[in-house]
Amino acid sequence: MKIFVPAEHHDGEKRVGLVPEAVAKLIKLDHSVEVQSGAGVSTNHSDASYVSAGATISTNVENSLATANVVVSVRPLKIENISRLKSGAVTLSFLSPAHNSDEIRALSEVKVTALSFDLVPRISRAQSMDALTSQALCSGYRTVLIAAEHMPTFFPMLMTAAGTIPPAKVLVLGAGVAGLQAMATARRLGAVVSAYDVRSSSADEVKSMGATFIDLGLDALEGAGGYAREMNEDRAKAQQDALKPFISESDVVITTAAVPGRKAPLLVTRDMVTGMKPGSVLVDLAAETGGNVEGSVAGENVVIAVNGGDVTLIGCKDVPSQLAVHASKLYAQNAVSLLTLMSSDGQIVPDDSDEVIAESAVVFNGEVRNAMAREHLGLTPLPERSE
Ligand SMILES: NC(=O)c1ccc[n+]([C@@H]2O[C@H](COP(=O)([O-])OP(=O)(O)OC[C@H]3O[C@@H](n4cnc5c(N)ncnc54)[C@H](O)[C@@H]3O)[C@@H](O)[C@H]2O)c1
Repeated sequence: MKIFVPAEHHDGEKRVGLVPEAVAKLIKLDHSVEVQSGAGVSTNHSDASYVSAGATISTNVENSLATANVVVSVRPLKIENISRLKSGAVTLSFLSPAHNSDEIRALSEVKVTALSFDLVPRISRAQSMDALTSQALCSGYRTVLIAAEHMPTFFPMLMTAAGTIPPAKVLVLGAGVAGLQAMATARRLGAVVSAYDVRSSSADEVKSMGATFIDLGLDALEGAGGYAREMNEDRAKAQQDALKPFISESDVVITTAAVPGRKAPLLVTRDMVTGMKPGSVLVDLAAETGGNVEGSVAGENVVIAVNGGDVTLIGCKDVPSQLAVHASKLYAQNAVSLLTLMSSDGQIVPDDSDEVIAESAVVFNGEVRNAMAREHLGLTPLPERSE
């Protein structure tokens, strides 16, 4: 079947849906792959490298979209491009049920099946398809390097003839995939790392990264599927109060907290920031979804005056794109794994009796299946599906 890879359209997006290595794997499965000319340029993959892997290059995007059986992209397609898809096609991309209502409506109108990497279930069989994890890994790693670049001090302890440098103290809030990778990276750079998360299982995961778990003595907030639940105002205030002394003694605070489909929880207030030492750095990975730190702006470094100097609050934006080559390599393998699950005899058939497909399908054959997407579109809930 024909798989098409368009160039990404979102400003600042440098990743690509499939890299040449992934194209070769799909061709072995008897599919054909067409890649928009220049789609891989920001991941150092030339048109020629795609051709060597067996792809053809398209300079007519309208025609490629209209004839593709499957379209693989990182971000959702532009609405005008969705309208060009043929009925029955399959799209693979990140597609947020809470934030991409216009795209979801358009996908439903053209009667396609839209699978979202936001929704691949976190079960062991689907680990190789889990692009949330692969991309969060890239983000977590980068947050530490971003912090290190802005720090006026070392990360590791150094004992030199000119004196001893103490190690940096790094605090990570949110111990999901990105947070754990941030801890591992900060440890590798020689920092002393501590962390907090609202899920009870996170204490052991934090310890396994060589970091210290901070027990605030608050109740855990576990939601469905291993995710966190939203905090109410009282719980948020209690957490902020309990975290305040840990924030003020940290040189670096990295925040990665998220609750699926919700605005990012506010973990660090302005008052907590102004209690920090001059020269400290905060990196807010959640800046694009509302921010874990009060006043963070996605894509901007905000300098905040504190007693004796200032601290820098970095609002992250498009972080996986800062590691576009490896982020795309991992993403493309996630896409290949999902396509392999649906492939048989050169055909790609999404089977909604498979839990992975059923949960990932925001839209299935034109029907909006995801409950949160339906809610955001003002559609009535679908009846419960029997097992
Ligand atoms: N294949 C698998 O089994 C698999 C793969 C990846 C992740 N997971 C699990 O999925 C879950 C979600 O991981 P994720 O990285 O997608 O998480 P996420 O991006 O949804 O959230 C990041 C972290 O923020 C935390 N958080 C939310 N509110 C918070 C608050 N108020 N204060 C502090 N921390 C807060 C969450 O508990 C989570 O650990 C985790 O339990 C993770 O271990 C499982």
